Amino acid sequence: MKIAFKILGLGLAVLITIGVVALVIINAQDIPSYEVEEVEFQRSNKPEAIARGQKLTQMLCANCHMDRATGKLTGQRMKDAPAEFGEIHAPNITQDKTYGIGEWTDGEIVRLLRTGIKRDGQYAPPYMAKLPLMADEDIDAIISFLRSDHRMVIAESKPDTPTKPSLLTKVLSRLAFKPFPMPDQAIPMPDTTNTLELGKYLAHNLECFSCHSADFKTNDYLNPPMSPGYFAGGNQPLDLEGRVKLTSNLTPDKETGIGSWTLEQFTKAVKYGLKDGEPTLSYPMLPYTQLTDYEVGAIYDYLMTIPPISNKVERSIYD
Ligand code: HEC
Ligand code: HEC
Repeated sequence: MKIAFKILGLGLAVLITIGVVALVIINAQDIPSYEVEEVEFQRSNKPEAIARGQKLTQMLCANCHMDRATGKLTGQRMKDAPAEFGEIHAPNITQDKTYGIGEWTDGEIVRLLRTGIKRDGQYAPPYMAKLPLMADEDIDAIISFLRSDHRMVIAESKPDTPTKPSLLTKVLSRLAFKPFPMPDQAIPMPDTTNTLELGKYLAHNLECFSCHSADFKTNDYLNPPMSPGYFAGGNQPLDLEGRVKLTSNLTPDKETGIGSWTLEQFTKAVKYGLKDGEPTLSYPMLPYTQLTDYEVGAIYDYLMTIPPISNKVERSIYD
């Protein structure tokens, strides 16, 4: 018996030592890199594409990449990134050749947005957004805007502050987070005359589902309706003070979701953050003023068709 315990104890000691050594090695290394596949992409630069790209960039990229003091995409510290991921800075993505993305090809930007693999092959962890389901035409719109002469994106030589990913981010980037595959066929735009199709597209691609489902960690980014607690809220993004801000249940459940909301109430909440008799919605729920009433209506129509889930979420209100 005693010998058996000794062997067991020794085995455990060996395992723990191996574990500690593995962590020390991972910590000394960087986030993993992947082989880079060439992506061919020719942006259109059409004026309609640039205008749509501006809307999409404001809704999907500015929150992280825009310096609020100057209104330019020169990057900033992400105050709402959970501290356990490290100290995260969204970099300069203006056209500056040294500090921005002036030297990146369009194909390199597409690869990053689709898969999460950067120009040099390194993986960008989940604190950088990915767009695996977005229509090619909308990807073109974003890139055409990033290359336009709009003041948000013209070259601005502001140096980046390097991100310091934590050991946890490094471990997860080896074990759990993986790049998405490059889509193997064209992704068409939804039929915009069909509000359910358009609403589903927007609810997924504007990341509504990502914040409003149970947990970022369990979301299915390639097939959003398979995410646990799809649109039932309770996810825990942080505000700019680092406090948890629970997300609301947007399923059509009448008691705990938005099943009894009118389109007008929904539109006011989404576009302006306004709720009757309650404080204004606040960060990270930003007003989607760029959306047309038709687009918000399409999201509403779609949400009314998804399975209702009873999940009561109390608003996190701080003052
Ligand atoms: C939630 C915050 C967040 C959002 C939203 C976001 N990004 Fe990022 N982005 C980051 C962070 C953080 C990095 C740095 C990642 C790294 O180095 O691993 C990054 C990196 C990048 C890079 C690489 C730049 C470089 O010099 O390495 C590009 C290009 C980029 N983002 C473009 C975009 C575009 C376009 C959008 C909108 C479609 C977007 N990002 C949305 C946070 C974000
Ligand atoms: C970055 C995370 C995030 C994203 C992305 C996001 N939301 Fe929210 N949303 C929240 C949070 C957090 C709240 C609660 C805000 C509060 O209590 O002040 C909220 C509240 C709401 C509410 C109010 C519901 C209620 O019961 O009070 C609606 C409606 C809503 N969001 C719709 C949307 C739609 C539509 C989209 C996509 C276009 C979206 N949200 C994208 C985080 C997000």
